[in-house]
Amino acid sequence: MKLFIDTADVEQIREVWSWRIINGATTNPTHVAKTGRVPAEVYREILGIVKGPVSLETITLTAPEIIAEGRELAKLHENVVVKVPLTREGLKAVAALSEEGIKTNVTVTFSPLQALLAAKCGATYISPFVGRLDAVGHFGMDLVRQIKTIYTNYGYKTEIIVAAVRHPTHVLEAALCGADICTMSYDVMKQLYDHPLTDAGIELFLKDWATVPKS
Ligand code: E4P
Repeated sequence: MKLFIDTADVEQIREVWSWRIINGATTNPTHVAKTGRVPAEVYREILGIVKGPVSLETITLTAPEIIAEGRELAKLHENVVVKVPLTREGLKAVAALSEEGIKTNVTVTFSPLQALLAAKCGATYISPFVGRLDAVGHFGMDLVRQIKTIYTNYGYKTEIIVAAVRHPTHVLEAALCGADICTMSYDVMKQLYDHPLTDAGIELFLKDWATVPKS
């Protein structure tokens, strides 16, 4: 499973990229707003660090506007993926951008039928938001499994990005149900390394090693 970092914080992206486990990045308007910086500068820096797909989100609402915005974003770098919210207008834009060879990531997805429509419009990626579903009493990962079944049934090539990830168990479930990608915050990615038994094991080895005669 590919791992993406979900942030617009350039320093976090730089550090995580050095860990050699990530394959791409996803941003959204909220992440960019949190940086307090001009989007174009943030995007240029991210694209300079990440050697893989980088999703940059459109913020217009009609298909012609989204298409125009998507074309401009795609000009920034060959790794740009145009992120488009799942609406009727958004999917019309996705179909047009796909026909032009521009990669798309359909976002804010909450139902398997929405995901079916996105695949029919040629979306490169679909982003089901599992954590936001869990927060309102649904099982977010059930959505991922249903999308996976539909895409497998009909041979759609659209890749599933498990998004709105809240903890390592989401990452584990994403991998177990065969999602293509999981995108997560810096904090969740850091937690993937941690296990108390690993810490205790290293501590014991070092303690024992200290008793070994050195000559
Ligand atoms: C994914 O591409 C989104 O940026 C992200 O996961 C949004 O989810 P959240 O704001 O609920 O974390």
